[in-house]
Amino acid sequence: MTGPQKHPITRRTLLASGAAGALAAGLLPRSASSAFAVPPNEDGYDLWLRYHLVADSNLLSRYRDAFTHIVVQGNHVVLRSAGAELARGLSGLLGRSIPVRDQIGKSAVVVGTKVDNTLGPEGFTIKRRTDRVEITGAGERGALYGAFRFLQQLQRQRPLERLDLTDRPASPLRMLNHWDNLNRSIERGYAGKSIFVWDELPGLRERYVDYARLLASVGINHTVINNVNASAEFLRSERLPGLAALAGVLRSWGVRLWLSANYAAPITLTADQPSPITVADPLDTRVQQWWQDKIDEIYRLIPDFGGFLVKANSEGQPGPLDYGRTHAEGANMLADRLAAYDGKLVWRSFVHEGFDDWAEYEYRVFHPLDGQFHANAVVQTKNGPIDFQVREPVNPLFGGLPRTNQMIELQVTQEYTGHSTHLCYLVPEWKSILGFQTHTGTGSGPTVADIVTGLAYDQENVGMAGVVNLGDDRDWTGYQLGAANTHGFARLAWNPKLSADEIVTDWIELTFGGDRQVVSVLKAIMLRSWSTYESYTSPLGMGYLTYPLGSHFAPAPTTTQNLSHHTTAEGTGFDRTAATGSGFTGLYAEHWQDIYGSLANCPDELLLFMHWVPYTHRLRSGKTMIQHIYDSHFDGYERVVEFRRAWGRLAGRVDQARYADIAATFDAHVIEAERWRDTIVSYFYGFSRIVPTGTGWLQLAYPSGQLLFGGRANSLAVEVTNASSSERSITAAVHPVDSGWQVGAASATVGAGAAATVALPVTPPLIADHFELAIDIAPAQMALSSRNQTFVVTPDAAQCHLALDIGTADSPLVTGYARVSPSTTWDTTRGYGWVGTAPQGRDRGSTWDALRRDFCGDYPARTLRITLPPGPVRLSALVGDGGPDCPPTIIAEGNKVLATSTDLPGGIFTWLHADLDGGPTGRTADLILDSEPDRFWHLGALVLT
Ligand code: GCU
Repeated sequence: MTGPQKHPITRRTLLASGAAGALAAGLLPRSASSAFAVPPNEDGYDLWLRYHLVADSNLLSRYRDAFTHIVVQGNHVVLRSAGAELARGLSGLLGRSIPVRDQIGKSAVVVGTKVDNTLGPEGFTIKRRTDRVEITGAGERGALYGAFRFLQQLQRQRPLERLDLTDRPASPLRMLNHWDNLNRSIERGYAGKSIFVWDELPGLRERYVDYARLLASVGINHTVINNVNASAEFLRSERLPGLAALAGVLRSWGVRLWLSANYAAPITLTADQPSPITVADPLDTRVQQWWQDKIDEIYRLIPDFGGFLVKANSEGQPGPLDYGRTHAEGANMLADRLAAYDGKLVWRSFVHEGFDDWAEYEYRVFHPLDGQFHANAVVQTKNGPIDFQVREPVNPLFGGLPRTNQMIELQVTQEYTGHSTHLCYLVPEWKSILGFQTHTGTGSGPTVADIVTGLAYDQENVGMAGVVNLGDDRDWTGYQLGAANTHGFARLAWNPKLSADEIVTDWIELTFGGDRQVVSVLKAIMLRSWSTYESYTSPLGMGYLTYPLGSHFAPAPTTTQNLSHHTTAEGTGFDRTAATGSGFTGLYAEHWQDIYGSLANCPDELLLFMHWVPYTHRLRSGKTMIQHIYDSHFDGYERVVEFRRAWGRLAGRVDQARYADIAATFDAHVIEAERWRDTIVSYFYGFSRIVPTGTGWLQLAYPSGQLLFGGRANSLAVEVTNASSSERSITAAVHPVDSGWQVGAASATVGAGAAATVALPVTPPLIADHFELAIDIAPAQMALSSRNQTFVVTPDAAQCHLALDIGTADSPLVTGYARVSPSTTWDTTRGYGWVGTAPQGRDRGSTWDALRRDFCGDYPARTLRITLPPGPVRLSALVGDGGPDCPPTIIAEGNKVLATSTDLPGGIFTWLHADLDGGPTGRTADLILDSEPDRFWHLGALVLT
């Protein structure tokens, strides 16, 4: 976990306590006196490309005898890369320099190509002869893949007798999709900023080579380097030489560069010309000529340019439908122009507009277009009909487009599966999707894998795309175990028949070495992590229980009523049947219509996706649906606790740095799993009021809109609900954050199934901050939501020099705070207000307290003038957005930056602080509020203490 933290509030405490906590708990190795040597520290940068000295000394000497030099047969740049990688890898593994030579001598490792029709264009063989090893590709790329695979065999300490191997990829298009923006932010990225420093190009960084190596090492041959929500700027002529330089690095490692194209680029990029193009209609001849010229220009600079990826007419993106044309017409216009250069056009079917049931959009739009896309056009379809939920049925478009080239889009970055905090190894999920029998062809086939490998309909332009999790964090993926998904995606794209067990074993051995216990413990954790995540976040296929507009991290089931569930006091789920519901089940082949459409046949794991059922409905396990929801959330949480414990047992077997990093991630994971469990269980108990079997629990709820004032006594209202079948008497108090907090207790007796509200006295110090508060309950018992509730503490206005509640003209005010809205212009007597153009105001509504619900903000910089009192004074400013994600806010005075926030997910707030000086008599300060270029800054409150 390097680089900026995406959840400053939820993770701060952990980062302080994670590794230290592990040490205190006796989990970290203390000294070198343990039975085995603790491996040297690593930071994760090398991923699975670690070429450490072979530990087994017998094997090492056999390897040393067998591999003394490398010979590259041919001068192709990709072959030279293969030679360089072999030299690097063998030198590291054998602990001595293994040179590249011109002549083949005894014990050579020879890499080259030989035409072999059985291997396809990218396959390879590794063959051990009496006096040498031959790594032979059917083409250069195959030779490179063979070199990497050979090294991986040695990393895994395979005996010399077992090195022979023949392999070839199943799909031709094995592609990464980066959702990287021009400002280097990454949409749904949790590993820092983009690897690519656009404005520095054509200047190149060493890391680009390592990026290309990591792709090639697992057989990725295409990469789309920018976000599907594409800025047209990527196509601007001035940018292309820089991108060509990057393409050159990729080319040496057999990877073709692609761009996401904004469909309205002809409009945007001619806006400043004497006669600008004002439409993006694919049938308009000026538009066509513009694209023709652009494509010619690109191929002059990047002769092996892969093509364009397009998101059109979805979530506000422009597209052919704006001009009354179809997706196929829109795609073909570009495909035809790329065809001349052997380029391809990938068109996404993720259109997210228009129907009542989101699950149906894509099929209804794309199925009628089957057969209309040209030969080098490919439709890229997300695995499920919604949006990368932890469990979704397979998208009915698979099998629904037999006359269209299709790629599957999987999400490697964990947008809906826990970001870089929850471990969620996705290969088991992807396996189940790829193995899905569509029943649209003969027999039960084809499977999704058959379709995307070209077997089903004998197609060539097919494959797999992964929305990738890479960023510029030192460990690439934001947490040490995240790279397992990157690796797993690539391995499956290469061969969808590999088992999850094989793939994860491969990854663990390459990443952590072959220690048996490490492999078996970590493997068991990882293979259970997807179903575990599912069990505490998404009951029975429901999905989408996070706030739809935000970061998709924390639970918010109230916000997705109608979108993913129709929860009432009687039951929950979504009736998507053809008989009585939205009709979605009717989009499948008859076999699946019968299964999904019938309550009796529908598999439990998709029950609430397909049906609305009463809480008392019996599942196959014999449990009622509601009892299952309760139990799976408690069990899932317990499994995460067990993951953390199991990892603890590996202390000393993994280097201390990565050990502690992973331990800290598990600490955070446990907290977030608890948050999910408590929120979802409370939510469904709140509706159903069905007391669980067993001992039950208490659940705590906090009326929304509560603020805590620093430096003043508060009464925090907490509603205590007794979800058990016996009366309970309790005493509750806020757990003090530190000695500066004063707290008092309150008691209540709550009947079985009843609720009572207690008012907890609490006085925080005079501060502006955020806290995750815990409530202590006596006698001790299971109390949901008793921990980790985030509260904002804002200073008592009477004790501030200035206390401003910034937002709109009519939203409620924080007690004692003065209003600043866009119309509050500077006024000397008042001592605050905007100078120059005023910003905009926004109000996110009453689910938030008076402080957080509204803010002022804008794209351009604006100036807020305030009067400072004499002497030193502390400025605190609240930044965040209760709706969408919030870009960085920069607060400056003159040229001096006082404070900057990071990108904040929607619903996450932070206080920025700066020390100012009013001098001997006080003065005015012009605070400049700004963000990164073209991004929206936010300011919700400002206080001087
Ligand atoms: C999701 C995701 C967006 C993304 C979109 C897409 O909606 O939250 O960030 O742009 O999918 O795949 O186009």
